[in-house]
Amino acid sequence: MENFRAVYFLMLFLLVAAVRCDIPTTLDGPFEPVTVPFDLSLRGIAVDLPDTDPRVRRLVQGFEPEQISVSLSATYDSVWISWITGEFQIGYNIKPLDPKAVSSVVYHGTSEYALVHETRGQSLIYNQLYPFEGLLNYTSGIIHHVQLTGLEPSTLYYYRCGDPTLQAMSDIYYFKTMPASSPQSYPDRIAVVGDLGLTYNTTTTISHLLNNKPDLVLLVGDVTYANLYLTNGTGSDCYSCSFPETPIHETYQPRWDYWGRFMQNLVSKVPMMVVEGNHEIEEQAFNRTFVAYSSRFAFPSKESGSSSTFYYSFNAGGVHFIMLGAYIGYDKSVCGSNLNQKIDVNKTNVKERLKLEVLEVWLSVMVMAEQYKWLQRDLDSVDRSITPWLVATWHPPWYSSYKAHYREAECMRVEMEELLYLYGVDIVFNGHVHAYERSNRVYNYSLDPCGPLHIAVGDGGNREKMSVEFADEPGHCPDPSSTPDPYMGGFCATNFTFGPAKGKFCWDRQPEFSAFRESSFGHGILEVKNETWALWTWYRNQDSDNEVGDQIYIVRQPDKCLVSPRVKGILFAAI
Ligand SMILES: *[C@@H]1O[C@H](CO)[C@@H](O)[C@H](O)[C@H]1NC(C)=O
Ligand SMILES: *[C@@H]1O[C@H](CO)[C@@H](O)[C@H](O)[C@H]1NC(C)=O
Ligand SMILES: *[C@@H]1O[C@H](CO)[C@@H](O)[C@H](O)[C@H]1NC(C)=O
Ligand SMILES: *[C@@H]1O[C@H](CO)[C@@H](O)[C@H](O)[C@H]1NC(C)=O
Ligand SMILES: *[C@@H]1O[C@H](CO)[C@@H](O)[C@H](O)[C@H]1NC(C)=O
Ligand SMILES: *[C@@H]1O[C@H](CO)[C@@H](O)[C@H](O)[C@H]1NC(C)=O
Ligand SMILES: *[C@@H]1O[C@H](CO)[C@@H](O)[C@H](O)[C@H]1NC(C)=O
Ligand SMILES: *[C@@H]1O[C@H](CO)[C@@H](O)[C@H](O)[C@H]1NC(C)=O
Ligand SMILES: [Fe+2]
Repeated sequence: MENFRAVYFLMLFLLVAAVRCDIPTTLDGPFEPVTVPFDLSLRGIAVDLPDTDPRVRRLVQGFEPEQISVSLSATYDSVWISWITGEFQIGYNIKPLDPKAVSSVVYHGTSEYALVHETRGQSLIYNQLYPFEGLLNYTSGIIHHVQLTGLEPSTLYYYRCGDPTLQAMSDIYYFKTMPASSPQSYPDRIAVVGDLGLTYNTTTTISHLLNNKPDLVLLVGDVTYANLYLTNGTGSDCYSCSFPETPIHETYQPRWDYWGRFMQNLVSKVPMMVVEGNHEIEEQAFNRTFVAYSSRFAFPSKESGSSSTFYYSFNAGGVHFIMLGAYIGYDKSVCGSNLNQKIDVNKTNVKERLKLEVLEVWLSVMVMAEQYKWLQRDLDSVDRSITPWLVATWHPPWYSSYKAHYREAECMRVEMEELLYLYGVDIVFNGHVHAYERSNRVYNYSLDPCGPLHIAVGDGGNREKMSVEFADEPGHCPDPSSTPDPYMGGFCATNFTFGPAKGKFCWDRQPEFSAFRESSFGHGILEVKNETWALWTWYRNQDSDNEVGDQIYIVRQPDKCLVSPRVKGILFAAI
């Protein structure tokens, strides 16, 4: 009986495997748009883990390391190890810890019995300050970042971190380095998630993702949702609707520590690379923004020629990843500024003023056109005979047909899309919209066999609403003037001038650029097979581990979509 059962399941498995051989490829596209409707039985609110949940409690003593994580440097031979020691404080009269009080040491080696290399790094603390009556200030534990160098490719390393003089070392953890960059070597599986937060649904996403054994995790922005809380720890599922009267957009920074504790199980073993989303802005006193984001994570900014934590690049085997900042200046030049029309200097409300100050910082970066110039340099330095695959990532999608955030990032698209296209970006990953969507190859809103595939995975499970409405449904097309995000550059979303939606702001059916869309929580796995083929799979939280929600081979056509002539073309055109 047992045997019969085993054979039965084996046959079933083979059948499923046979069906799976029929995976579509982008060469079969462009595809007719497909919508999978929201499964109403899944409706319900995503509830945050409370501070009493054992997975978010502080389990260490004294200055022992916690919230341990690994992230990549720009090349395979170097990684960052990060952790936190000491306790955060929140309240009145907080006293920041002295970051020098605890040193930053990592011992590592290829055997857990011989952690023979010692590396020292840097430590810092950050504050989240609110100079308003009744609001509580926060000061972090000591954050440590240590860069290991001289590592071998595709190699398992063991490590401990902490301060040996304080008898405060961690347990032994391990991670594997990326393969060396070449057209023949790729990480097996790269997980892509967005808009995670820290709900029970997030924990489902992460355990599902862990079962897929990724070699690398990309988090495409919106990390903890600490800004859905007041400083006294009162939470909300929608900040703007619940706390209209507070003088500044408050945050509850301990949520970052909870998140770091929960994620340690994954990110102490698997390197994670993060790019900022709007929930990381977290404005505070003295015009400071993105402070938790920039302090807690290590970024290979310097290693990739960037002067900012907001944009950087790195290689993972034969893939070059470019992480872009959507909430800081991205314009080509000052003349391209869309911003001035947005600033209403007569706003007196403190919250509005702070918003303006954020915009001023934005403006100062934009005037320099720093990010755009960096992007140009970075793209120019990519050698496709070493890293054939070029993947770009930022938070808000350019191509999304959901009502939420519809065409919100249009100014960024107008500024940057041409450059990414000319250099032959293969895939774009985004988040922000709390659902899943995969595009056809597209450029400048036209189907284009050499345009990138845009994939949005803002479906990590955070406590805000799931996106379930489409802009093309009757009555759901937003008013254009309501679409710009005040933290992004101005208004660019004018009505379409060609195609099926000509003269209108929205399509009257699923747009042709949208190949597949579904509202569900989940995560994706990218498996680059060789120089031209990569398998993309989207997994839904409600499915079993080997069931797929969406799957496609992304096929590059380097012969058809030559990069250099396109780039030369633009150069000649400029002369
Ligand atoms: C979120 O998790 C809850 C259980 O905690 C479940 O009932 C609900 O269906 C999940 N939501 C989605 C969209 O998967
Ligand atoms: C928080 O810090 C700000 C800036 O230093 C200060 O003005 C404010 O009084 C502090 N608030 C509390 C509750 O300590
Ligand atoms: C936090 O502050 C809000 C707004 O002032 C208040 O309604 C709530 O009761 C406070 N919660 C706690 C736990 O103090
Ligand atoms: C914030 O930035 C604005 C514009 O750059 C500047 O005028 C103002 O003085 C700054 N405020 C503080 C407290 O630094
Ligand atoms: C600001 O308000 C004052 C008084 O209402 C008005 O005279 C001025 O023109 C306004 N400035 C702008 C830039 O709107
Ligand atoms: C994109 O399309 C618009 C509308 O047709 C056109 O005005 C614009 O020049 C195009 N941009 C590029 C970079 O081709
Ligand atoms: C843009 O399209 C909307 C409908 O989608 C229409 O109401 C509006 O008048 C159009 N605006 C212009 C300037 O054509
Ligand atoms: C690349 O991988 C795909 C999928 O595994 C395979 O079908 C194809 O033959 C491979 N191409 C080359 C050039 O190795
Ligand atoms: Fe977002």
